[in-house]
Amino acid sequence: MRVLVTEPLPGKGIQLLSDRYQVTVGERGEFDRVSELKKVIGNYDALLSCLSNPVSREVLQEGKNLKIVSNYAVGYNNIDIKAAEELGILVANTPDVLTEATADCAFALLLSVARRIREAEDHLRAGRFTGWHPFGFLGSELHGKKAGVLGMGRIGRAFAKRAAGFGMTVCYHNRKPLDAETERRYHAHFIDSVDELVQTCDILSLHVPLSPDTKHLIDKERIAMMTPDTIIINTARGPIIEEEALASALHDGRLGGAGLDVFEKEPEVHPLLLSAPNCVLLPHIGSATHKTRGRMSALAASSIISHLEGKPDHAIPALVFQRPRKE
Ligand code: DGY
Repeated sequence: MRVLVTEPLPGKGIQLLSDRYQVTVGERGEFDRVSELKKVIGNYDALLSCLSNPVSREVLQEGKNLKIVSNYAVGYNNIDIKAAEELGILVANTPDVLTEATADCAFALLLSVARRIREAEDHLRAGRFTGWHPFGFLGSELHGKKAGVLGMGRIGRAFAKRAAGFGMTVCYHNRKPLDAETERRYHAHFIDSVDELVQTCDILSLHVPLSPDTKHLIDKERIAMMTPDTIIINTARGPIIEEEALASALHDGRLGGAGLDVFEKEPEVHPLLLSAPNCVLLPHIGSATHKTRGRMSALAASSIISHLEGKPDHAIPALVFQRPRKE
């Protein structure tokens, strides 16, 4: 069996695959275009892809021997899931293992924005620190604030837990409310609509997957509904926010701040965001801890191994969808 891993990865995943199969590891960026993936995919039984690899219908159709695509990410918006389902190609991802790291990153962004950490540090490094100042870098504290969590899946809940621990009240919007016991565990109150959530919270943290339904969920109109102190945090996917509208609102002082780990057209960052006040920008590092990235590679590899060994769909560690069972 032949496996393509699109670029070198941390952890044991590649070794686990190489112990069993003929593995090709691409170079960083080599498979970031459909044309490059299309050229070679017909030679492989399995693909371990990254979120920068466009696993489109065209690519999947060329994968005449392809049985499974395992994505080194929890998000799988880079893969045409419908096409994969139609073509009988399984898709796996890496849920659970990156939950805590990503929620930590969202919280790091939140603290940085609320306490103006980046600005204050820049000031010090520029040699402008002249001593304690009564008006120096006044920010806001999290205690007593209302955190709004949009998308109460694994990462949303982990963010909610942190928010409650910091003395914030937590409200959330989700397609379906959580059961009462889970709501109690996360001290979270369900809000019926996205509009109401964005209007009532002090901090909005995004934790929904990217899909046609969530693209620009936070658009110009919703940004206009927020109070001028609202802080937006995005560690999910860039296109969930209308980036230009967010940047304009920050420039006009219509928002309290933003902490972003993801962007609409990665790796490009909107120039207006780069110059916006009280905005902390990170290069998509939500899951970037040694432990998490190692666990992601082992999990992505083990889904491939389970499938190539002939295990039934329900025994594969992290499938995005299961094929209907044959009677
Ligand atoms: C994911 O898994 O979707 C992350 O964005 C990768 O770090």
